[in-house]
Amino acid sequence: MLQICGSKVLFLYNLIMGFNIRERLFMNSNEPNELQVRLQYIQKKVQAIQGWTEDQAGATLYQLVRFYSPNLNIVELGSWKGRSTIWLGYGIKDKKEPGKVYAVDTWQGTPGEGAHSDLLKQYNQNQLFEEFQQNVKDNSLENIIVPLVGDTVDISKSWPRSKSIGLLHIDASHQYEDVKRDFEFWSPFLAPNGIIVFDDVPSWPGPTRLVTELPKWYKQAGVAPNKLYFIKTT
Ligand SMILES: C[S@@+](CC[C@H](N)C(=O)[O-])C[C@H]1O[C@@H](n2cnc3c(N)ncnc32)[C@H](O)[C@@H]1O
Repeated sequence: MLQICGSKVLFLYNLIMGFNIRERLFMNSNEPNELQVRLQYIQKKVQAIQGWTEDQAGATLYQLVRFYSPNLNIVELGSWKGRSTIWLGYGIKDKKEPGKVYAVDTWQGTPGEGAHSDLLKQYNQNQLFEEFQQNVKDNSLENIIVPLVGDTVDISKSWPRSKSIGLLHIDASHQYEDVKRDFEFWSPFLAPNGIIVFDDVPSWPGPTRLVTELPKWYKQAGVAPNKLYFIKTT
C-alpha cells in the first residue's frame, strides 16, 4: 500500500517538475540486471531489421511502454520494416498484461522521401509489408502487433472514440504539415498521462518545429536519441 502511494506521489512530483523519464528508467525495475540482459537480447534481434530507430531510442520506447504507459493500447504511425514496432511489442510482452501495438502505415514509403524510394526501387508492391510481417513473426509478436494498412489520417477516422491510447509514436512523414496533421488527428485519443513520442527531433525541421507549438498541457518528459517525448497532463 505504502509502495503504491509512494509511486503515485513520485509520479505527480515528476509531472509537476517536468522530469526526464529516461533518467529514471533503470531505477524502475526491481531487477536491473535482468532488464539489461533483456534489452541486449532485443537489441540483437532488432539489429537484423533495416530501419531508423537506434538501439538506445528503441530501448527507451520499450521501457516507456513497460513502465510508464497508462494503458497498453500503443499506436505507432510509420513502422516501415518494424524496427521500432518490435521494441514497442516487446515492452507489452514483458509487462505480461494484455495489450496491442497498432502499427499504422501504407507500407509504400513516404512520398517524396528519396531514401525510401531508393530502397523500394527493387521491391514489388507488397514486399515492404511482407517483410514487416515476417519480422513480427520472427519475434513471435503476431498476437501483440496489429498492422493497420492505410493513410494515418484515414485510419484515425475509424479509430474507436472510446479506445484511449497509452503511448503514441509519431514517425510517418516528417514534413511539418504532415506531422501536424498526424498530431491533430491522433492526439485527442491519448489517455490522461498518455505519452506522445515525436521521432526525428532535432534531425528534421518538421517535427522539431511542431514540438515548439504543442498545447501547454503537453509537458516534456524526456529525450531519447533523436526523439522527444511528452506527457498529456489533462
Ligand atoms: C521513417 S519510416 C518509419 C521508420 C520506423 N519507425 C523505423 O523505426 O525504422 C516512415 C514510414 O511512414 C510511412 N508513411 C509515410 N506517410 C504515411 C501516411 N500518410 N500514412 C501512412 N503511412 C505513412 C512510410 O510508408 C514509412 O514506412
